[in-house]
Amino acid sequence: MFNKKTIRDVDVKGKRVFVRVDFNVPIKDGVVGDDTRIRAALPTIQYLLDQGAAVILASHLGRPKGGPDPKYSLKPVADYLANLLGKPVKFAEDCIGPVAEEAAKALKPGEVLLLENTRFHPEEEKNDPEMAKALAALADIYVNDAFGSAHRAHASTEGIAHYLPAVAGFLMEKEIKYLGEAIENPKRPFVAILGGAKISDKIGVIRNLLKKADAILIGGGMANTFFKAKGIPMGDSLVEDEALETAKSLLAEGGDRLHLPVDVVIADRFDAEAESKVMPVGPVPEGWRVLDIGPQTVEAYSKVIAGAGTVVWNGPMGVFEFPKFAQGTFGIARAVAESGAVSIIGGGESVQAINQSGLADKITHISTGGGASLEMLEGLVLPGVAALLDK
Ligand code: 3PG
Repeated sequence: MFNKKTIRDVDVKGKRVFVRVDFNVPIKDGVVGDDTRIRAALPTIQYLLDQGAAVILASHLGRPKGGPDPKYSLKPVADYLANLLGKPVKFAEDCIGPVAEEAAKALKPGEVLLLENTRFHPEEEKNDPEMAKALAALADIYVNDAFGSAHRAHASTEGIAHYLPAVAGFLMEKEIKYLGEAIENPKRPFVAILGGAKISDKIGVIRNLLKKADAILIGGGMANTFFKAKGIPMGDSLVEDEALETAKSLLAEGGDRLHLPVDVVIADRFDAEAESKVMPVGPVPEGWRVLDIGPQTVEAYSKVIAGAGTVVWNGPMGVFEFPKFAQGTFGIARAVAESGAVSIIGGGESVQAINQSGLADKITHISTGGGASLEMLEGLVLPGVAALLDK
């Protein structure tokens, strides 16, 4: 299934190994918030250290524009990682050029160096070959463990792989195995749950999953666009008018495999304290908007989920940051956790919901990728994976 070479297939002893990780984590006032992505990279880093490699880590952080910006420095992550590893992590204030070269050259087996944000060079996102060569010059072997960035063809995720022996890390391997297996060879019935605000973000995903899944359960704001496409007035709900034709064709393609909510929770304004009511799906009164799926929908969806062999979930069912409109999302989280199915959750918000619900340990695989996991569900080849050596 996973047909790329991994760190198990190369001899790293005494070598300088350049590891692209996805340390794009929330940082506020120099303090790391959710550290899931950093922890997820530890098995690869620890293995390489144990094998006697000198480990050079690189990542992007945020979306800096045009050059270095202290707000997007990875320095806090170096300190954070040092604590997790229980050993010093050196830091180079540039990812290429003399500063990086000297730091890489001085690095000994068993030591770790983190390079500054790769996006401080605009050439990174342009996948500039000179930048890729400059990164490659720092090491003997390239490891891509940045699943969350594997859908980006950038110098540190794709370009560099053309200039060094390039293999996958353990996180990359695990993510592709779970997501790939779920899509290509699922234990059936295969149920996909898709939420979030917009259909336009997920058209490709719905199209691909309609070919693969036994049922697709729709929730979140994007259900509104489907309802409007069916001719139901949606009041002040969020609707993507430009996606109505697409919604119609997806409904026609999907037939009864595409499930829509049967009831919804409406609110008189977009606010945590808004007045709210449950109503069966039908014309939404002017001044009101849908902010969650209703209890009957949770029940109906939970039955489908309970019978599933594989469940993939991406996107919340409602505005779950407001407790009044969180029942749908948490109800679905419970159903997925209790299903006994192979369960895979991707996308920042659904991962946050499962963590908040305290049910994360009941999930088979929680992806560290947002965009990357969606592109996999869409059936696309991720450039950061394609560039690695075949087994
Ligand atoms: C992510 O957080 O999805 C990845 O780190 C990619 O970040 P990007 O969308 O800025 O490329």
